[in-house]
Amino acid sequence: MGRFNEFLFNHFDNVPKKCTFVEILEMKVERFKKQSYCHVRMAGFWDNRLRRYFHNPNNILKPFIRKNMTVLDFGCGPEVFTIEMAHLLEVTGKVISVDMQQGMLEIIKRKIKGTAIEEIIELHKCRQEPIGLNENVDFALMFYVVYEVPSTQNRFKEILSRINRNGLPMIVEPKAVSKKSFTAMIDSIKENGFEEHSQLKIAFGRGIVLSKP
Ligand SMILES: C[S@@+](CC[C@H](N)C(=O)[O-])C[C@H]1O[C@@H](n2cnc3c(N)ncnc32)[C@H](O)[C@@H]1O
Repeated sequence: MGRFNEFLFNHFDNVPKKCTFVEILEMKVERFKKQSYCHVRMAGFWDNRLRRYFHNPNNILKPFIRKNMTVLDFGCGPEVFTIEMAHLLEVTGKVISVDMQQGMLEIIKRKIKGTAIEEIIELHKCRQEPIGLNENVDFALMFYVVYEVPSTQNRFKEILSRINRNGLPMIVEPKAVSKKSFTAMIDSIKENGFEEHSQLKIAFGRGIVLSKP
């Protein structure tokens, strides 16, 4: 092994000893692609006053959440929507907040500790795949998360299969996701038996609510 490969080998985990420099780089790129999610260190970037001004959780969620629903906040991050969901449920029903980073869930845990809504919020750490949901939901929020998920199709299948009849998935992606890709994704969900419920106007984003007839 050349000295540079040896350096790479020593600095990156799980690189097989017998491989070329190009192969090592390809492995790094693949690994980066798989891990391109918003790290817990970026939590403050998503949860702050300015963000809440543009993405006001009450305005966005209020038309769709009713008492006694079970609702999902998939890729909940540090929580911009979970607590508002619990308030809109008026401490009835259930909020299931799912993230693959324990650090994000710990932030939420601290925020709700000792409050009345703590009772109805279930925090669930998932792996990248599968999520491991074991109950059905009436509303599923996927806000700025689908673009971070490596194999969208499988993930969707799992979430969509957990949506009750008349249930509503809400999907919001950043504007950086092209209109074409967003439309293609929505079309693939419609092929799984969902209909358009309403288009959303979201600052810096593209959003839609679907329904399961
Ligand atoms: C950009 S943040 C958005 C957080 C939140 N939805 C919001 O709008 O404030 C994306 C979150 O999705 C989570 N995430 C990314 N891929 C995921 C996956 N495959 N399964 C579960 N969570 C995931 C990340 O850990 C991160 O907390």
